[in-house]
Amino acid sequence: MAVFRAGENIFVLETENYQYVLGVGSDGLLRHLHWGEKVQPGDFEIKVFDDINSNHSYLDTICQEYSPFGSKLFRDCAFKCRFGDGVRDAVLVFKDYVISENTLKIFLEDIHYRLEAELLYTVYEDCDVMGRKVIIRNTGEECIECEKVMSAELSFPEKCEYEIINTNGTWWGEYQVVKERLSGGTLSFESRKGTSAHGNAPFFIAKPCLDERGEKTLFGVLEYSGSFKVSVSRDGFNVTRAMVGVNDFDFIVSLKSGEEFSAPWVYFGCTESVDEVSRIMNRFALKYVFPEQFREKTLPVLYNSWEATGFDVTAESQKRLAERAAKTGAEVFVMDDGWFGERKDDFAGLGDWYVNKKKFPNGLSELIDHVNELGMDFGIWIEPEMVNPDSDLYREHPDWIYNFKTRTPSEMRNQLVLNLTKPQVKEFVFDFIDKLLSENNIKYIKWDMNRPISEPGAENLRDGRELWFRHTMAVYEIVDKLKEKYPETQFEACASGGGRCDYGAFRHFDEIWTSDNTKPIDRIEIQNGYALINPTKAMRAWVTDSSDAPLSFKFNISMQGALGLGMNLLDSSEEELACMKKYVEIYKENREVIQFGDRYGLMNLKDHMLNANEFVNVKKSKAIIFAACVNTKFLHRSFKIKLKGLEANSRYNVEIGEDRFEKSGSYLMNVGIERDFGGDYKNEIWTVNKIN
Ligand code: GLA
Repeated sequence: MAVFRAGENIFVLETENYQYVLGVGSDGLLRHLHWGEKVQPGDFEIKVFDDINSNHSYLDTICQEYSPFGSKLFRDCAFKCRFGDGVRDAVLVFKDYVISENTLKIFLEDIHYRLEAELLYTVYEDCDVMGRKVIIRNTGEECIECEKVMSAELSFPEKCEYEIINTNGTWWGEYQVVKERLSGGTLSFESRKGTSAHGNAPFFIAKPCLDERGEKTLFGVLEYSGSFKVSVSRDGFNVTRAMVGVNDFDFIVSLKSGEEFSAPWVYFGCTESVDEVSRIMNRFALKYVFPEQFREKTLPVLYNSWEATGFDVTAESQKRLAERAAKTGAEVFVMDDGWFGERKDDFAGLGDWYVNKKKFPNGLSELIDHVNELGMDFGIWIEPEMVNPDSDLYREHPDWIYNFKTRTPSEMRNQLVLNLTKPQVKEFVFDFIDKLLSENNIKYIKWDMNRPISEPGAENLRDGRELWFRHTMAVYEIVDKLKEKYPETQFEACASGGGRCDYGAFRHFDEIWTSDNTKPIDRIEIQNGYALINPTKAMRAWVTDSSDAPLSFKFNISMQGALGLGMNLLDSSEEELACMKKYVEIYKENREVIQFGDRYGLMNLKDHMLNANEFVNVKKSKAIIFAACVNTKFLHRSFKIKLKGLEANSRYNVEIGEDRFEKSGSYLMNVGIERDFGGDYKNEIWTVNKIN
């Protein structure tokens, strides 16, 4: 709900449990007043301050909703621009507002120039989430160059220190959680690569460092898959603020007369605990973010050929693999890299999206028909944004890549990045995928992106610095258009595993490939880090040959997202296939709860020597718990696991393998169940069902 209280000049936004209040001061500045528990609105005051002294301007000490660089603002700003006459000073004051249903639009304008900033706020009442973004408009004649356009400035309610949580990973080691206590200065998390999340991720969680007085954990997450920046600063007066948006490093938007720039959404909220953030955002993604076609459907179990056959794909070998995959109960068979052009390794072929005749003499249909006859859908790997110098495409269009004219473009994995900001390149990419999908019964696309953008030059643009944003938008545009034309085809965002893991990806793709690292022990940490703020359903997790852990352990870990298989099934015995089938069946029986339920991190390896995560359905009538212990130390063998999220007064049947017993919700949550995990790779799956 969004309301304007005219007498007080304040706007009140309310979700089910929380409130966000802003108001217009007599100086015309849009001020931030409250973010937290609901209070009666009538009491808010908008104080107008003087400078504290000659060294501290009032602009630095008050909390504005969207601070431009200008006048006497010396702290971090949300917006910075250069007007046509060279003036680099913006002063934005309140002009107008519009409220429609759950959306508030506030229009700010510069006091001299024809520059408008539209701040949009959307309330998702039932999810306890709000969204905000900004649209910058040039309503005048002369060009305006925007050097920084953050989507949101968020002022924290407490003057205490906050612990700021983000991730700090690498390819193969994504989502390593970091917690930094911010006493003063600025903490910055960012990407400068053109993708989002191998290192830091586009979100923050901020936990107040206070004795529990009910202070709330805050969070904000950006819907964007490109170079981003999340910076959180604490000033000398103990005020903490976050700026979240597209990275202003090497960034520019030049707005000609009448043009506008629409920044990506930031979703934000506050809640009781860090663990609750994951559930709020999981529910929010399921209800409001994922593309509609598959939003309410469970995702299928897939088999992917990459770790089994690498680039060595042929019609025959893939057919044999598919026959095996069908025996496990997989529902989609995805053929990975290697099927096109002169692709036999990563040195050649990217860009030449025709079927390799030596490997597939009868085209793809022979394999696809076989896969379909086996009862599975067919999926395929592509890497549309890339080209190998050794390709017909590059020989024909050497000018289709990003580069500076005096530089040799840097190769990574022997490939270069296509300039998707050129209309003809964007068209080429759309057309080849369109052709692939129109000529073949393909129900799943794995869209990869295996290197960052370097030498970011694009002579077709007014200013090359625009390419970062435009590239990401071009990817979204192509995917959206394809999804519209092929609504039955699912899209996975891969980016080397984990490189495009963000709410922008969740908005346009149905799922993501979490990490190229499929070792189950590493995966425990990677997946727990992912789950901090990202939705379970989108997290692809394969069982592979990457470790010697028993199948039970591997499935235990991979079943905690969208299950996949990636082992070389040609080496698997009939017993192993039967065992896989058993786990796939357990997964299918419970996937509704896993993919759509609330996730509770019960115990983690670092603190407890055992990792246990629980998924509970919305009705609290079904839960599934995955408990895994890599190895026990000394004489420790017995672990007590306490559940969460059940109804205290209901009774539940608990099944752990052959063991069956009945307990109350309160017992399961407060006393817990003690089990023996002594030895190596011990693991258990518990199912808990409410007794009516
Ligand atoms: C990336 C992906 C892998 C696989 C290879 C193919 O590394 O993350 O899953 O698709 O590319 O080259």
